[in-house]
Order: sequence, then C-alpha cells, then structure tokens
Amino acid sequence: MVSRCIVCARVVKLAGWGLLLGTVLALVVAAVRTFTFAVGEDLRLSAWEKRDVLPGTFSPQEKAEFLRSFKEAIRIPTVSTSETDLNISALEEFNDFLQKAFPVVFSSSLVQHEIVSDYSHLFKVSGSDPTLQPYMIISHIDVVPAPSDGWDAPPFSAQEISGFIYGRGTLDNKQSLMGSLQALEYLLKRGYKPHRTFYLGFGHDEEVTGPNGAKNIAALLKSRGVKLSFILDEGMAVLDGIIKGIQGPAAIIGVSEKGIMTIKLTVTMKPGHSSTPPRETTIGILSIAVSRLERNPLPSKFGLGPERAMFEHLASHFDFPVNFVMSNLWLFSPFLTWILEKEPSTNALIRTTTAVTMFNAGIKNNIISPYAEAVVNFRIHNAQTTDEVLQIVSDTIADDRVKVEVISAGEPLPISSYNATSFGYQIIKKTAQEIFPQVVVAPGVCVGSSDSKHFVEVCDEIFRFVPTWFKIEDLSRFHGLNERISVKNYEEAVKFYFQLFQNCDISKLPEPHAGGHEL
Ligand SMILES: *[C@@H]1O[C@H](CO)[C@@H](O)[C@H](O)[C@H]1NC(C)=O
Ligand SMILES: *[C@@H]1O[C@H](CO)[C@@H](O)[C@H](O)[C@H]1NC(C)=O
Ligand SMILES: [Zn+2]
Repeated sequence: MVSRCIVCARVVKLAGWGLLLGTVLALVVAAVRTFTFAVGEDLRLSAWEKRDVLPGTFSPQEKAEFLRSFKEAIRIPTVSTSETDLNISALEEFNDFLQKAFPVVFSSSLVQHEIVSDYSHLFKVSGSDPTLQPYMIISHIDVVPAPSDGWDAPPFSAQEISGFIYGRGTLDNKQSLMGSLQALEYLLKRGYKPHRTFYLGFGHDEEVTGPNGAKNIAALLKSRGVKLSFILDEGMAVLDGIIKGIQGPAAIIGVSEKGIMTIKLTVTMKPGHSSTPPRETTIGILSIAVSRLERNPLPSKFGLGPERAMFEHLASHFDFPVNFVMSNLWLFSPFLTWILEKEPSTNALIRTTTAVTMFNAGIKNNIISPYAEAVVNFRIHNAQTTDEVLQIVSDTIADDRVKVEVISAGEPLPISSYNATSFGYQIIKKTAQEIFPQVVVAPGVCVGSSDSKHFVEVCDEIFRFVPTWFKIEDLSRFHGLNERISVKNYEEAVKFYFQLFQNCDISKLPEPHAGGHEL
C-alpha cells in the first residue's frame, strides 16, 4: 500500500511558538497535566500468562536459507498493473515457489492449505484449544510495476548492496508474507503446536484493490462461519525520525483506515464555433468548480478520529514544548490544527483531503468544447461520511451546470480498540516491544488503503503494522525507486512473527492495573 502516514514534521516548529502561548490562562493546569499524563501504559508483564516460548534464534545456515528464499520471492515479478493486467505467469511461478520454499508448512498435519481464486493462498494452522478465537495475518503477493530506470540495482534482482536487499516488494509487502511463512516453517520444524488456531491469508491483487484475492478469502471464511479475534495487515511500521521532535523511533499500529471516494464532474453544452463564443464555456465553468474545491478544503476534524489517540500516546515522548501542547489537546487543538494543516502529510491526518486527479476537455482549436470532465479523489476522515462529503462538495461548487457523479465510494473503516482489553492490540504491542525494545508503541490511522477492507464482516479488530523500519528517505521507496530492506530488518521480521504466533497462545490478557490509566 501507499503509506504516507503520520508525518508530524511541522510539529517541531512549535518550539518558537510555545513561548507565545505563555500567557494562556490555563497554563498551570496544563503544566501539571504534561507531567502526570501518561496513556498506553504496559499491562504488567508479571501478570501475563506464562507459557513456554521457543527462542527466536536461528543458526547461520537457517539465516542463509531464509535470505536465499526471500530473495527468490523478490525475483518473481508478481506485478499487478491493472485489474485486468496481472503477470499470470509470475503468479503461477509464485504458487510453485511457496511449496518448494516451505516444505514443513506444506506437509504438516496441523496446516491446511488452499488456493483461492487461482493465485491467492489461505493457510489454517489448527490450535489445540478450539475454544480460543482464531486470528489471522494477511499480506499480499503482488507488487506495483517497477521500470528499472533510476534503480541502483535492477528491481527484480534482489541484489544485496551494503547490507540492503534491493527489489520491488521488499517493503510492500513480501517481507511480511515471507517473514510470517518462514517463522511458521521454523516453529513447526521445532515441534511447535499452537494453542490458538490462526490463519495466514495472501491475496494476489491488493495493488489493484483486491477484487478477487483478499475478497474471496474473506468470503470463504464468512461462508464457513469464521469470526476472527483480530487481523494483522500491512499499513504502518516502525517510524524512525519520521515523527519529528519525538525522542526515538515509534511503532505505530494502524487502528483504522480513511475512506476513499472518487467523483466525476461534467459540464455539457451544445458545440459552437470559436468565432462566436458564448460568454462561458464548458471548460471555464468546470475550471471554476475545480478551483472552488481546491480553495475550500473540507473542514478539519482534528481530535475527532483516532489521530487524537496517536498524539496523546506519543505526547510524553516529545521534547518540551511539544509534549506540553500534545498533553493538552483540550486546550491547544485549534493551534495544533493550524500547524498540522500546513504540511500535506500531516494535513491528511486531520481532514478529508481533496485531490483533483484528471481533467479532460476540448476537441479542436476552433470548436467550443461540448464537454468537459474532471475526476476528484477524496480520502475521508474517520469522523465524516461519504454522504457528508458529497453534500459539502455540491454546496461548494454551487453551480447546477456541473453534474456530480460518484464513481466509487468506501466509508472510513471501523476503529479497532486499543485499550487494555484489546487482545490484538496488546499482543502486537507486546511483540513489537520484545523485538524492538527501543521503540514506543502508539495507535495511528492509515491514509492509504489495503486488503483489510474486505475483512470487516469476519473481523471487528483490524490492525495495520509491519515489523519494518522506515526512515524519511524510505517513504519515497514505497511504490518508488530503490525499494529495499536491510538484511538485519528481514531477520527481525522473521523473529517478530515467530514471537507473535507464540504470544497469541495465551488464553486471555492479564487484568489491567487496578486504578491504572489505560487507553
Ligand atoms: C512475467 O513473469 C515472468 C516470470 O514468470 C517473466 O519472465 C516476465 O518477464 C514477466 N512479464 C513482464 C511483462 O514483466
Ligand atoms: C475498550 O474499548 C472497547 C471498544 O473501544 C470498549 O468496548 C471497552 O469497554 C473498553 N474497555 C475498557 C476497559 O475501557
Ligand atoms: Zn501493500
């Protein structure tokens, strides 16, 4: 997926402004809050159910083996160009490859494997306790196209340069697909028998909205009456230096996803000759409409969606005065909104965004165009609906000659829970802290879209996180040039899933602290 998530680059500039705010009346209250306010405390580790855990340590041979396998996966160009243009031969090759790469998974009596819609895969790993609700990890097999111009190593070469493996799919999203299967392979090889049943689902057409892969996997589970405890999908990651002003890296677990709506605006009139033009043309009318949409962004919804929880969880990890502002959103929300909306990446967190993506008109240099059309793409904030956005759009255009037609619309996804009783969130958080001890964990919102949208009927709790490091420069590698992952990070990915599967085997979470402040 395209992940342009949470980039609070602007926030750091608050430093200068912090002083100005010194006169605010509520200063004292606010200061007290800054130093007492803490959310997202850990569940007491001593209270976690004790289970024997196989250590995530791998021999040099195993490490060499799983790197070789990962590189082989990257070399298969499973490119999705459009819904009707997938590289079928690569997908077939990938089917065969999986069987060869994971012989233990494919022969274990605990694992049932099935191919869905020809190229997608569903694995069910049976746990010993059928009363425990199963969970699922999803990833995707396909990748976006990668013309080789501008790459330091060819995009399907999996060439290693200075400790990094280069190739399309190393970040999006074969690292989680291969990492999770590899972890399962080694667990089974070491005699692991899960307590809780789980599924691994790999769609083959996520990059073109998943019309066959993930969608049919979800339909299959639904037809079998499966209701999942939680799903872990791609979307967010370990962000290192991306959230400016924060001390240390942050693992952000996406708890929701913005909605997405595409509309078409059209203006039609009788064609005429350019020697006797009407006062206004289709092109002029449509230009004004489009310009009004750009000049009148939808209102900020900052604080009304899960982005608020992200700022609150991270508050104490920022330097002064940012920590001060963030701990006191009740007071500073309008001010923070003003800062956040200046940068496209943070603006996307706080409102429904408007992007005019296509504009077509005109047939000949001396004909008044009978027709002009534009396409506008909206990413809808969690606190808004597609209907509300449509209403605002037609009020803003305020011109009946402009016809508005919805091409596609999907509401924002439900918000998964992230408090002390959220099984999925707490397990993912605990695992992230075990593998990346230096990170702070917080919930967040995805501004991109992925396969999870297909699973809302079989699962209420969907989380989006890959155990992958992202620095600012890596954001442009996503669907861009020189996509790469470090060898070390791929090892961490294998360890993450190795630990995650085992962490899920507890029957239930420990009780929250009595009197603790858990969010
Ligand atoms: C499709 O995949 C095959 C490998 O299975 C590869 O040889 C071929 O070049 C790919 N086609 C395109 C257009 O990339
Ligand atoms: C945790 O969140 C869920 C859903 O958001 C809610 O139903 C539940 O009551 C919350 N639990 C606690 C202990 O706050
Ligand atoms: Zn993806």
